Amino acid sequence: MNPQTRLHTETVFLEVSLAASRKKIYALRAAKEGKKQLAKLLSAIAVSEEAQAQRFLLQLRGQTGTSEENTRIAFTEEIPSLITQYETAAENAGQVEERGMHSAFSQSARVERMHIQLQKKLDTNPVKECSYHICSFCGFIMENRTPEKCPICTASSHRFKTL
Ligand SMILES: [Fe+2]
Repeated sequence: MNPQTRLHTETVFLEVSLAASRKKIYALRAAKEGKKQLAKLLSAIAVSEEAQAQRFLLQLRGQTGTSEENTRIAFTEEIPSLITQYETAAENAGQVEERGMHSAFSQSARVERMHIQLQKKLDTNPVKECSYHICSFCGFIMENRTPEKCPICTASSHRFKTL
């Protein structure tokens, strides 16, 4: 892929993914306001934009490195950068006394740190298989079983998705 096309593809992927997420929020608001058809249209556009994002992601997939390189980038660059962003956001939210947001950002930072631990665990024993159970509220991942309550956000077991 031409470098300029690749840059456009990455940018469009990010933008359209964000746009799809926003449409879902707008749809919830429209539904809350009783605007049923508008909510449906916004939901349909969200699904459309997710499909577009998926299409560009598939184009980019061929451009990624080996799993070894991707793992290194994900766990030594991307995730640590995300943790730093969450920690900064948590600190700011704490300073302006937005407790709910402080808690959300702090929990996300913890969850991301745990992802690094999960990868280290996998790295030490790459052949051992396990299932992953993900809290749909905070993103906490538990191996092999669903907990009764999420240890991070206290969501109940039915909020967990199994992969
Ligand atoms: Fe959770």
